[in-house]
Amino acid sequence: MKIFLDTADAGKIKKYAEMGMVDGVTTNPTLILKSGRKQEDATREICKLVEGPVSAEGNAERAEDIVKEGEVFASWAKNVVVKVPMTPEGLKAVRALSKKGIKTNVTLVFTPAQALLAAKAGATFVSPFVGRLDDIGEDGMAIVEEIMKIYRNYGYRTQVIVASVRSVAHVVRAAATGADIATVPSNVMDEMFAHKLTDAGIRKFHDDWEAAKKLS
Ligand code: E4P
Repeated sequence: MKIFLDTADAGKIKKYAEMGMVDGVTTNPTLILKSGRKQEDATREICKLVEGPVSAEGNAERAEDIVKEGEVFASWAKNVVVKVPMTPEGLKAVRALSKKGIKTNVTLVFTPAQALLAAKAGATFVSPFVGRLDDIGEDGMAIVEEIMKIYRNYGYRTQVIVASVRSVAHVVRAAATGADIATVPSNVMDEMFAHKLTDAGIRKFHDDWEAAKKLS
């Protein structure tokens, strides 16, 4: 499974990119705001740090405006993907952008029906938001399982990005389901590395290493 980082923080992206962990990046207006940088500057820098797809999200609502905005984003770097909202106008824009060779990521997807429509429109990626579904008492990952089944049934090439990831368990379930990608916030990435027995084992082997040096 590919791992994208769900952040606009260039420092965090660099840290994981140096480990070869970052297959792509997703951003949204909230993440751009958190980064404290202008969207264009942040996106251009991220696109230099990462070879894979970098999703950039705009604010337009009418299809023709989404297309215009998307063309501007796509001019920033060759790996920019245009995030498009899951609306009728959004899907009209997906079709137009796809004809122009611009990649799209249909965002704010909460049902398999929405994912089916996004695939039919020709979306490159679709982003079901599992955490926000969990937040309202639903099982977000169950939606991903259904989407994967539908896409396999009909051979849709749209790739599924498991988004709104809140926990390591979400990432593991995404991988077990066969999702193409999980976009992971940096706090969850940190947790993926950790286990108390790993830390305890390192400490013990370190102590024994030092003791073994004193053997004659
Ligand atoms: C990614 O594409 C989404 O913008 C992001 O995962 C949303 O996550 P949130 O629900 O934690 O804001």
